[in-house]
Amino acid sequence: MELIPAPSSVDTPGGQAFVLDEGTKITGGRGTWRVVDWLRTTVGTATGLPLWPSEDGEGLRIRLWIAPPLADELGSREAYRLTVDGQGVAIVGASEAGVFHGAQTFRQLLGPDAFRRAPVSSRRSWEVPAVVIHDAPRFRWRGLMLDVARHFMPKEGVLRYLDLMAAHKLNVFHLHLTDDQGWRIRIERHPRLTEVGSWRARTKFGHRASPLWEEKPHGGYYTQDDIREIVAYAAARHITVVPEIDVPGHSQAAIAAYPELGNTDVLTASIAGGTALSVWDSWGISPNVLAPTDNTLRFYEGVFEEVLELFPADAAEFSAFIHVGGDECPKDQWRASPAAQARMKELGLADEDELQSWFIRHFAKWLSARGRRLIGWDEILEGGLAEGAAVSSWRGYGGGIAAARAGHEVVMCPEQHVYLDHRQADGADEPVPIGFVRTLEDVYRFEPVPPGLDASEAGRVLGTQANVWTEVMENHARVDYQAFPRLAAFAEVAWSALPAPEQRDFAAFEHRMAAHYRRLDALGVAYRPPTGPLPWQRRPGVPGRPIDGPPPNR
Ligand code: ACM
Repeated sequence: MELIPAPSSVDTPGGQAFVLDEGTKITGGRGTWRVVDWLRTTVGTATGLPLWPSEDGEGLRIRLWIAPPLADELGSREAYRLTVDGQGVAIVGASEAGVFHGAQTFRQLLGPDAFRRAPVSSRRSWEVPAVVIHDAPRFRWRGLMLDVARHFMPKEGVLRYLDLMAAHKLNVFHLHLTDDQGWRIRIERHPRLTEVGSWRARTKFGHRASPLWEEKPHGGYYTQDDIREIVAYAAARHITVVPEIDVPGHSQAAIAAYPELGNTDVLTASIAGGTALSVWDSWGISPNVLAPTDNTLRFYEGVFEEVLELFPADAAEFSAFIHVGGDECPKDQWRASPAAQARMKELGLADEDELQSWFIRHFAKWLSARGRRLIGWDEILEGGLAEGAAVSSWRGYGGGIAAARAGHEVVMCPEQHVYLDHRQADGADEPVPIGFVRTLEDVYRFEPVPPGLDASEAGRVLGTQANVWTEVMENHARVDYQAFPRLAAFAEVAWSALPAPEQRDFAAFEHRMAAHYRRLDALGVAYRPPTGPLPWQRRPGVPGRPIDGPPPNR
């Protein structure tokens, strides 16, 4: 059946196939209308068939309904059973999310043209062989992080990525909204964050050592209605959006907009050279970090107040989470700043690492008082972390192991395995090659659960996430190239009950990928072909930073 991600079980009992045609009707049980709507607007539009509603049970039908006991039977509230025979199609889910995943599988059974937005032939009937599929995810958190700060992705592109995620049964969209190079979310009470912070005058083209510049302004941001639309569009596809507002590092765009957020006593003297700081136009880790003042805390509480309203906690499992970054915060300014040193003394903090921890704990408590949960990159473990906070383990397995052992929930996204900005082959024609070579097969053999955890510690691994950092991805075709096909392998790692890495059948996965490439073609995804980049996917002469040899195991 060439399904991706592979379902838990597929039985082909033989017997009559189902034929989808102009007479096919849909019946949706209570709580499934959004899935019915999705089927009509995707499969209905692609096939040109009306998929009429049917209340009376007449005729060949696609039936959708929710049966909560399926969660116990198959071990997940996202489980579904899909039955196709000559009489019709039954998609039953343990929840609406389960029904939605079943509908996604059904679309794959129809063939690649079911992924288009209009019919491409006069064909009026579509055959699906008889099958019974039982399916449930291995992990609850199946994430994709997209960095829209380094290069902005306009709203339409984000909605498209949500559709691509849903097609791969991914369910958490970690939206990296702020960084040194741009602030991408409108905050009404602090308008300069987007007026000043959402654009830069020019951009380094390639790795930071590259001599090239894109000599034109780059920018953009989401209005609050854009964000509401993104969140609702995601929710209709059973995806939770977890926003990231990075503190106390990666904050230069905010400091450019509101200089008092920075360490003004050292900033002016030694770093900005007496001139105003601007949104950063190059890459790396900026030394300009937030000042540990009450003003900074109140300012960001104001930001988070608006963020909490835009990303409400609801029935969705991970909707309480707010990501606060917390990674790569250089301590040089705090060391050099008499004001920061005085603050540390006042707070009784021994060193700058404790100051970083103080920052994060403040927001962990602030969020928890509002019924929300903090999640941050694994640096937030340094100096101790508030109860209830969760960790994105990016520097390797170590952060995940430490977090799980300390009782924190953890999302595994180690850079050595699932940073999709890293090059996917070592040829000289890979566009702006950075990092380690991480092939499709490498990603397919990634094991999210760190070694050495006992069962209760392993139970704290919520799941896994692929991260797409966009320094060298200037448009959505470049994002597609880096993300695909590897995101399909990642989706199978996150969803399917695969054996240990060395026992995984990569040849069988590649065989199914042959069918999946046709689906990606129909969806208009500019993936990296197995034979290497197409001429227009290359970036000759734009320096990257390849790293040779095996990745460090941090
Ligand atoms: C990170 O890659 N700095 C989280």
